Amino acid sequence: MIKSQDYLIVKEFIPDKIEQGSILNIFTNNVAAHTHGFHKYPAKFIPHIPKWAINKYLAGLKRKIVLDPFCGSGTTLIEGLLTGHNVIGIDVDPLSCLIAKVKTTNINTSDLNKISDWLVREVKKKKRGEFRPKCETIEHWFPKETINKLSIIRTFIDQIPERFGDNKSIKDIQHLLIICFSSIIRRVSYADNESQKTYVSHTHIKTPEEPLRLFLLQLNLFKERIIKFSENITPKLRNQIICSSSTDSLKVKLKDQNIDLAITSPPYIKAIDYIYNQMVELFWIGDLFGIQTQPKQNEKKKKYIGTKHFYKKEFVEYTPFETTMEIKKLDDKIQRVFKIDKKNGHKHAYITFKYFVDMEKHFVEISKCLDKGRHYIMVVGDSSVSNIFFNTSDFLIKIAERNGFRITNKWGYKIKNRYMRFDRKGRGGIIDIDWVLDLVKT
Ligand SMILES: C[S@@+](CC[C@H](N)C(=O)[O-])C[C@H]1O[C@@H](n2cnc3c(N)ncnc32)[C@H](O)[C@@H]1O
Repeated sequence: MIKSQDYLIVKEFIPDKIEQGSILNIFTNNVAAHTHGFHKYPAKFIPHIPKWAINKYLAGLKRKIVLDPFCGSGTTLIEGLLTGHNVIGIDVDPLSCLIAKVKTTNINTSDLNKISDWLVREVKKKKRGEFRPKCETIEHWFPKETINKLSIIRTFIDQIPERFGDNKSIKDIQHLLIICFSSIIRRVSYADNESQKTYVSHTHIKTPEEPLRLFLLQLNLFKERIIKFSENITPKLRNQIICSSSTDSLKVKLKDQNIDLAITSPPYIKAIDYIYNQMVELFWIGDLFGIQTQPKQNEKKKKYIGTKHFYKKEFVEYTPFETTMEIKKLDDKIQRVFKIDKKNGHKHAYITFKYFVDMEKHFVEISKCLDKGRHYIMVVGDSSVSNIFFNTSDFLIKIAERNGFRITNKWGYKIKNRYMRFDRKGRGGIIDIDWVLDLVKT
């Protein structure tokens, strides 16, 4: 049993029992193992968290169902499969769903070798590609020669079903190659590699990497990792990825399957604009999801929990004094945002209110999908909005508890890799602890 003190040092394995309120300092070099490191994704959690939850609640069991209703790039799903369970991931973001699918799908090795050998040969030979991104300012984002080379790679990836057949095995390989292609795009662009928002810095001029060489390197890494992953997981296990919102009709989406354990990290308030983060990738693969143009992308942004994209007309009639969450401390804070922030208070109060409304809708839905005694592990960070601190984790506990859950433990861990985690200007700044809420269905 660990004592609750400031930081508890943990190396690789999180202990089964953790005292309430403990804060762990997890030392690991191992966050990109297996297929975890295929593609950057903002606010990924470390694989240690789902691994801990699965070991704690499904130890010794096989082929149970693990759900992640905000699965992002699929960290929970990979760990679920590696420990012998069927997995279901839901996310509203189409790129994240494709990343999660690729990272968890068994591949036919001989088909992969055949197709990748062909692709490498063709892209090296070809002088001009046919694919054109639907972006008039593309040369602001990429060197001219890079645009042509990316176009050549994409052109050949598009030809795969026609050349090799339109069946599942070939489609899975085509998806793997699309994600491999997508994983190099930020690095070969002029846009800053690390920032959450996609922008070209004029103070830190970047030299983009050479696309063909990088693609071939990345392709070798993808092949090696996915082949090993496919060997490590039981072939009969299922990975189901559903690209949809987790705020409505969850039971229908899950087709009444009984969920044995849910593990997730939901979005934070006002923290990440996923579409903006993926802007350069979407120039090159957004057409696959119907979000290749800016108006389509802006429309999509509204579907994300925690979004800041609201037109004035949507919140003009809202006031936090009439419409409340009926949680006194939370309502007081939202009212303070409204009153104190003279410039953006009205909008920020609405964004915050809407975040908790959506999270409540989610709890209503997920509570219908879990039987009594099943656990829901949720990792969430606290936030500040208009410089007012929101202990989001405590408010989510209150909301969960009025929708059929009981909190059994809350502990935290120090966030190490700040990659794309927070708004660097301090607005909506995330405190550097992630809280692990262990909820049980009552
Ligand atoms: C913190 S990230 C999850 C990261 C994930 N744990 C990982 O390791 O990659 C939160 C995710 O919630 C998703 N999301 C936002 N609103 C959603 C909604 N209404 N329904 C489902 N997913 C949503 C975002 O697209 C994002 O992928």
